[in-house]
Amino acid sequence: MAAYPAWDEDGARLIIAGLSHLEGAALPILHALQDEFGYVDPKAVPLIADALNLSRADVHGTISFYHDFRTAPPPRRIVKLCRAEACQALGCETLAQDLARDHGIVVDAHARSQDAVVETVYCLGNCALGPSALVEGELIGRVDANSVAALCGARQ
Ligand code: FES
Repeated sequence: MAAYPAWDEDGARLIIAGLSHLEGAALPILHALQDEFGYVDPKAVPLIADALNLSRADVHGTISFYHDFRTAPPPRRIVKLCRAEACQALGCETLAQDLARDHGIVVDAHARSQDAVVETVYCLGNCALGPSALVEGELIGRVDANSVAALCGARQ
């Protein structure tokens, strides 16, 4: 996944100033901040509220209403593990159990700021070579718990 720059208040102010003239500017600003930094830092809330003449509660409400917005830095790496039917037949559920038992990596644990997370997806179009995983745009077939852990950098 793309590496994001660290949160930077001056950079955030520029983004906000560049979009604050728009009608309904809160959403475009939040998307632009997340595109830039990978998440919307809570420190952005008063900046947005001041720029748009909104209350901080209004801005908080918008962020929490849309589940797409992250308020903490994203994981360094996301490994998507297929758990659809063909990959189930080829052992992806056993893989998920082994991953938790042997490596302490729980699939779909929503700890968004860890180094890596493993997320369930349903079919990566690589059914004959399952279990399948996708990491940073690369499709990998016949994964097992050890190889998924290695893809995570073996850190959780
Ligand atoms: S079912 Fe896993 S890739 Fe299609």
